[in-house]
Order: sequence, then structure tokens, then C-alpha cells
Amino acid sequence: MRSAPFTLLLSAFLCAAGCSDSGDGDGGETTGSGGATGGTTSGGTTSGTPSGATTGSGEASASSGATTGSGDTTSASNGATSGSGGATSGSGTGGEGTGGSDGTGGGASARVPAASASTLREAGEKANPPLLIGAAISGGGLGNNDYKRVAAAEHNYVTAENEMKWDALEPSAGNFSWGSADNIVNWARQNNMKVKGHTLVWHSQLPGWMSSMTGKANVEAAMRRHITQVMGHFKDRLDHWDVVNEAVQTDSDTGVGNPRMRPTVFYNQIGESYIDLAFQIAREQDPKAKLYYNDYSIDARNDKVEFVYNMVKGMVDRGVPIDGVGFQMHIGPPNNEAGGADVAANMKRFTDLGLEVLISEMDINRCGGVVTAEEQLTYYHDIVAACFKEPKCTAVTFWGINDGRSWLNSWSGALCNGQSSQSLLFNDQYGKKETYNRVMNALLGK
Ligand code: G3I
Repeated sequence: MRSAPFTLLLSAFLCAAGCSDSGDGDGGETTGSGGATGGTTSGGTTSGTPSGATTGSGEASASSGATTGSGDTTSASNGATSGSGGATSGSGTGGEGTGGSDGTGGGASARVPAASASTLREAGEKANPPLLIGAAISGGGLGNNDYKRVAAAEHNYVTAENEMKWDALEPSAGNFSWGSADNIVNWARQNNMKVKGHTLVWHSQLPGWMSSMTGKANVEAAMRRHITQVMGHFKDRLDHWDVVNEAVQTDSDTGVGNPRMRPTVFYNQIGESYIDLAFQIAREQDPKAKLYYNDYSIDARNDKVEFVYNMVKGMVDRGVPIDGVGFQMHIGPPNNEAGGADVAANMKRFTDLGLEVLISEMDINRCGGVVTAEEQLTYYHDIVAACFKEPKCTAVTFWGINDGRSWLNSWSGALCNGQSSQSLLFNDQYGKKETYNRVMNALLGK
């Protein structure tokens, strides 16, 4: 792993000299960065203006019926005591459960891979204990039949890329807008995919009325209403939640320098206890839900993850109802790099606290030449393998389906300048890339 300042300088230089390979093709999506109300700081980069989003021929948008996923969908059905690792978990029935008993990581000492699989989803479902294979899904993507086909065939876990964020769900105080989120949740359920709610409390994509609120009691009341209403609306359909997202910051988006609580409206008005409070409200709303803390550049050892580890340990020690930690795993600019061995060691520290861990938003950005093609393949294999080998790592979610739709393409700190980040598992014709093969190998224990 190179030091961040060096890589960023190098990448800036390389970019100036002709940044990155071009993307795969259809350029069908304009993502745009910045512009979210309340300012955006996500994936690390404080952002403001779009930086030349890709444009192209557009997407075929007519959608005619959800595709059906391949493979069976009983993500926790293989409760057999198995083989070499002596795994004895998988006690869940049909993929649902609570408090660590859903067949994912319930005490097994090793995860046993499937003998073979034709999709990532199948590899995850046949492993023992099973591993959820996720993707960030966008409402725009669901307008494309190829996107839907690949998304449902290869994944059994969905995170809405933007549609369940505060500005989308509660654009004005107390008035909720469910349509876009319901579309994604309903599509996922039609395809026997679980959904993780993302995200209840976050400083970004926060409507102006909320980010400018003052007064502890006001902010607490607004946070309580939002969590209660949102979890209540989806209660019968999903029971995994990112409760608090990105509460910690450092001087660099790579997780280096002066780790501290991020000065959000929640922190500024309530203090650090807002995090405990958010989890407590979420637990009151759903006693059985899995409740996660989620953050970026905490994937291996650095200043930020030390701070987050101590924060989370404090929560566990105080009895705050947290079930796990999501390592976003955005590798490359604007975030950190992390090797498989470091990721595994870091996961172990958190699982030793009695928590689940998840890879929650994985992509590996090639822009700027900071991460080479060969490094990308090694990272994809080794990092997914680190999760696969850890039975308490319960999910791997990729942050998108195909390269052309990646948020990185237009994110100013990602050094792409509208070029393809080449960061995901499928190209723009929805063909499998070598990155897909490396991930599949990791899921099959190879
Ligand atoms: O919907 C508007 C559109 O109406 C407007 O014309 C356009 C102009 O820029 O913006 C559109 O909104 C954009 C939105 O994505 C939907 O495309 C926002 O500007 C843009 O900021 C937003 O970016 C999202 C980013 O979160 C915001 O922080 C990315 O798509 C999304 O992938 C990204 O996801 C985050 C996770 O939630 C948390 N972890 C980091 C991760 C990557 O940044």
C-alpha cells in the first residue's frame, strides 16, 4: 500500500498527462456529483460541483417486468455441519433471522465454499455459512433490462444507492416520499433479494431544513421522527439498517490525520451521544433488526479506524444495540487502499467485539493510475477472500453493477474527470470482467 500523499500527487501528475483509460462504452448514465442539499461529503470527498459527468447514448428505459434471479434464494438454508473447517452454523431458515442467528456467521470457525457456482449469488448462497452478495441499485438502473437481469442473477442483497437517504425520503419536515425507495424494495423482493436500509442518520444528502436545524431537543425530535417513520414504513420488508453513516472524519479522505467526530448537525446540536441515541431509537422500532455503523477508509489500519474501533468498542461496552460494522471498501481515490491481509486483521478486531462485519460498498477505482490493473485484480480477490474466510463477515456489497454508472466517474476527488473508473465487475455491455472472475474465485475458496 502506498502512502496517500504520494499516490495522490502521482495521480494528479498522471492525470494531467492524460488521465486514465477510457470506459467501456455506452456511457449511458449521467451521475453528477455534488449538488446534494446540505453539501456532500461522501466516499470521502467534500464535493460541490459535477466534474464532467459521462453522457452518451442514454439508456433504454422501458422496463417490462422484473427478471428473475438464478439460483435458489434460501440464503441461510444450508445448516449442515460441514467439512474441514468444522462449521456448524447455518441455523437460519430461509434467510431471515435475528441477532446473529440467520445462518450467517453464527459461531462457525470457518466458512466452507460451494463446490461450484455459476453466479456470485449462487456461490454466496451455497457457502456454509452463506454470504450475502450485494449491489447498490439505482432507480435509473432499474430502467434498463440488462442491468436488472445482471443485478438479480448475480446478487441477493440490495442497497439503494440514493433512494433511501434523508433528502429522498423526507424532503420537507414530516412529509415523507416513499415512491422511489418502494420501487427498489419491491423489485428486490420480487427477485428474492434482501434489502439493507441506507442510511438513517448521515450528514450528506440531508435536506436544508434538517442540516440547518438548531437546538438539541429539536434535532433529537427530528432524528427520532425520521428513524421511526422510515423503519416503520419498511418494517415488514427489511430488517437490516445502516443506522449511522460516516460519523468520523480525518484530515485526509484516506483516513489519515487527526481523527475526530464529524461536525454534523447531529453532533453539533446533540453531541457524540447522538450515535447511541440513534441506535437506541432504531432498536425500539425493531427489536429484531440488524443495526450497523458504516464508514469509509476504515478498511485496514489507519488513524480513522483506530478512532472508529474505540468508538464502537465504547458502544458495545455501554450496551448500545449495535450488531455490526460496514467497511465501505471504496479502494483508490478519493479513499484508501487496503490489502487482503490488513483487511482480515482489521475485521478480526471488530468480530472479537462480538460484532458482524460487512463489506458494504466495494469498488476499486483505476482513475489516475493510482491503482494499476494488476493491483485491482489482486485487491478484488484478496479482500473478498478475507471476508469469505471470516464467518462473521456476512455480506459483500459492490457499489454498483457496471462501470459506466459508477459514482466515481463524476466525483471530483476520484480523478476520473468523466472517464470510466473501471471500478466494478461488469463492463458497459454487462459483460463479466476479469474482476468478476477474481471475486468468483475468492467466493469458491480458490
Ligand atoms: O438527483 C439529482 C439530479 O436531479 C441532479 O440533476 C443531479 C445534478 O448533479 O444530481 C442528482 O443527484 C446526485 C445523486 O448522486 C443521484 O445521482 C447528487 O448530485 C450526487 O451528489 C449523488 O451522489 C451520490 C453520493 O453518494 C452522494 O453523497 C452517489 O450517487 C452515491 O453513489 C454515493 O454513495 C455514497 C454512499 O451513500 C455512502 N458512502 C459513500 C458512497 C460514495 O460516495
